[in-house]
Amino acid sequence: MELILLGPPGAGKGTQSKLLETRYGVAQISTGDMLRAEVKAGTPIGLEAKSVMDAGKLVSDDILVRMIQERIHRPDCAKGFILDGFPRTVPQAEALDRMLHNTAVDLDAVIELKVDEAVLVERISGRFTCATCGAGYHDKFKQPKKPGVCDVCGGTEFTRRPDDKAETVHARLEAYNAQTAPILPYYRAQGRLHVVDGMAEMDEVEAQIEAVLRKIGVPAAGA
Ligand code: AP5
Repeated sequence: MELILLGPPGAGKGTQSKLLETRYGVAQISTGDMLRAEVKAGTPIGLEAKSVMDAGKLVSDDILVRMIQERIHRPDCAKGFILDGFPRTVPQAEALDRMLHNTAVDLDAVIELKVDEAVLVERISGRFTCATCGAGYHDKFKQPKKPGVCDVCGGTEFTRRPDDKAETVHARLEAYNAQTAPILPYYRAQGRLHVVDGMAEMDEVEAQIEAVLRKIGVPAAGA
């Protein structure tokens, strides 16, 4: 299964692609996570990306295309992948088409998670993550069962992303509207675009995505 989850910051791409990764055994590829790992490791890419990400802007197409080119050929992608955060510009979408064409892989679907902007700001500003295992939480929508303790690993340290500050969130939304939204007609013209109501509860969004996958003939999880 080769899938793209598209949507503005906070639409639920990471949440849903992690669920799909577990259910379908395909690799979740988050370019945001890959870039944050580069920043943490202090690599040349990380040094170049940090100030751009902190400002809520997009890192260069050139860097992203090279990262994805290498990533989709790793062994964990043998059963397929879900792209979360890539492509984000029309040139990235065109580069992905060329990469897939060269490896005779066909994209199954592009799923857009549609969410109102006011909700996005609330979702992003309330988000936090376990510093030990990376499990995601939210002040309002998904609190740990025991306050201050991670449900998954028992960790007690949590972090918030530097680009989740309100002013940066607005810059990220602007970048989405100006540079990423033009991808939607690109994939609509290919007949690959499916729209899902990302405002619904998380399990309802998951059910809608699975309905799209059934409709296009992807075998049910576990089949
Ligand atoms: P990236 O890490 O990709 O961030 P983003 O696209 O801004 O997306 P988010 O991770 O903020 O949101 P999400 O849609 O995954 O939502 P989530 O599931 O977490 O990119 C960061 C930066 O890296 C970019 O700004 C850019 O600088 C750079 N970058 C990355 N890729 C790039 C590329 N291809 N080209 C150039 N630059 C690139 O959900 C958010 C919150 O809402 C969570 O707390 C969650 O629990 C909650 N939530 C989720 N679904 C629901 C629901 N249905 N109901 C209620 N709450 C929900």
